[in-house]
Amino acid sequence: MNHRMEAVGNAYSGDNICPICHIAATSLGEHIRNAHGEEEFRRAVLEAKAGGMSDPEIGSRFGITFKQLEKFITETYGINISALEKPKKIKHWAPKDFREETATVWSFKQRGNWVTHDGKYRGNWSPYIPRNLILKYSKPGDVVLDYFVGGGTTAVEAKLLGRRCIARDINPACIGLTSGNLDFRLPETFLGELSTCEPEVLVGDARDLSDLSNNSIDLICAHPPYAGIISYSSKVEGDLLKLGIEEFLQEIQKVAKESYRVLKPGRKCAILIGDTRQ
Ligand SMILES: C[S@@+](CC[C@H](N)C(=O)[O-])C[C@H]1O[C@@H](n2cnc3c(N)ncnc32)[C@H](O)[C@@H]1O
Repeated sequence: MNHRMEAVGNAYSGDNICPICHIAATSLGEHIRNAHGEEEFRRAVLEAKAGGMSDPEIGSRFGITFKQLEKFITETYGINISALEKPKKIKHWAPKDFREETATVWSFKQRGNWVTHDGKYRGNWSPYIPRNLILKYSKPGDVVLDYFVGGGTTAVEAKLLGRRCIARDINPACIGLTSGNLDFRLPETFLGELSTCEPEVLVGDARDLSDLSNNSIDLICAHPPYAGIISYSSKVEGDLLKLGIEEFLQEIQKVAKESYRVLKPGRKCAILIGDTRQ
């Protein structure tokens, strides 16, 4: 989420050959836009991205900023992801040398890339966060609810730790991403005595959990959108990301009310929320 890039110049170079008509252009972005139109321009940018070109290279080649690139990706794929290629093969099933957090400030050296975790979904949280929460506040077989599941980080951790999980998100593209990230089979002996619990993954609105009974959830892991910070990134009806602060606060109250209703007495709801800048 911290990448920053400004468009850099477009001086003529061998890289400025138009991928559509193959002529050399002094300003490739301008040329594609003028000669082939906006749609072709966007296609050329996304093809470069899918082909593995780095973001700074794309910026330099097509004369766009990092924010414009994010906007193209989000509008085309319905989700703000940083890589368009297929997920990698699983190399590790758990974080190396993991130790549960014991202090009131949590800090992680890496964001974590075991199993299918990666930073591809730009709004995701480090898997160390749900791992710590789940270990600290639930036991095997408990039900963990994440109604802002995004790319599925919590659901993946719940599956790895033998917890049942109800995973929801308002954005169908996120639910697709979550299902993809959960598409792995645990090694036979991984959970010992426990059996694998496949998370229940559904499109849903966190403000309305009416299909869940009162006092039925053991732990809620909630990572809501940060009110309006990236306002262009969603066209999905009901996405709280689109709201200004006042409206966001009103709507998040509905989530809080529902959370209180479905949570078993004495159990925990953990919330991660970022700063909002004005
Ligand atoms: C900060 S992201 C959560 C990311 C997640 N922790 C992860 O690791 O991928 C917030 C998510 O809330 C979802 N969202 C926004 N409004 C919602 C709503 N009303 N109900 C359910 N999900 C919503 C967005 O689609 C987004 O995926």
